[in-house]
Amino acid sequence: MYIECEDLLKTYRSEGAVLTAVDHVDLEVNKGDFVIIMGHSGSGKTTLLSLIGGLTRPSGGRVRIADIDNWQQSDGELAIMRNKKIGFIFQFASLMPTLTVLENILLPLSFSNTPQGDRQYALELLERVGLRGRQDDLPGQLSGGQQRRVAIARSFINRPAIILADEPTGDLDETTEQEILAIFKTFNQAGITFLVVTHNTDLALSQDSPRLFTMQNGLLAASPLL
Ligand SMILES: Nc1ncnc2c1ncn2[C@@H]1O[C@H](COP(=O)(O)OP(=O)(O)O)[C@@H](O)[C@H]1O
Ligand SMILES: [Mg+2]
Repeated sequence: MYIECEDLLKTYRSEGAVLTAVDHVDLEVNKGDFVIIMGHSGSGKTTLLSLIGGLTRPSGGRVRIADIDNWQQSDGELAIMRNKKIGFIFQFASLMPTLTVLENILLPLSFSNTPQGDRQYALELLERVGLRGRQDDLPGQLSGGQQRRVAIARSFINRPAIILADEPTGDLDETTEQEILAIFKTFNQAGITFLVVTHNTDLALSQDSPRLFTMQNGLLAASPLL
């Protein structure tokens, strides 16, 4: 099993009460799967992704990626896994405002001297998200949707095996959204595993054989295809 959540639990304490954000979730994902998670706001989708990505420590249960338990690793090993294996696309594009578009895309590599090949790949990704020629702009010179596309390009720079995307097309116009979905599809066909949180049913329809789940009050259930 490639990604395995077993009895995964995340609780928060708020105002003396215990809130169960992720409620004993079991999930098995094969390499190359395209998993789509839908559900109302507050149902636990973001929390589930951050547990899988090793950003949040579970209150109970386990997450294993390629047979390695996220939290049985040292902090250093976990950081390397997050950096090398996983591409994160957060709900809100978080670009560094003082770095150029190109520098932002290269940031996860955190090399002081960027090899020419990486630079070339960054420019190629920029082109694939429809922003050719914008590499020297600062994020502030781009629209919100364009910034989002830069963040998407950035998530692929490490050639990650897994993409965790939290409402990646939420604030994009329809044309951009279709472009992003097409990009996801080509990367998925190349073997990258996707877990995507979305409200967008087009996303399911645009992929070859998506696995659809719904979250409700922290519980994850398989959904019939649309
Ligand atoms: N850091 C936190 N501290 C306390 N409660 C949180 C925290 N993060 C999320 N929650 C709560 O957990 C529940 C699930 O949140 P979230 O995973 O963000 O849902 P979704 O992404 O589906 O909107 C919500 O009730 C939310 O308020
Ligand atoms: Mg969320």
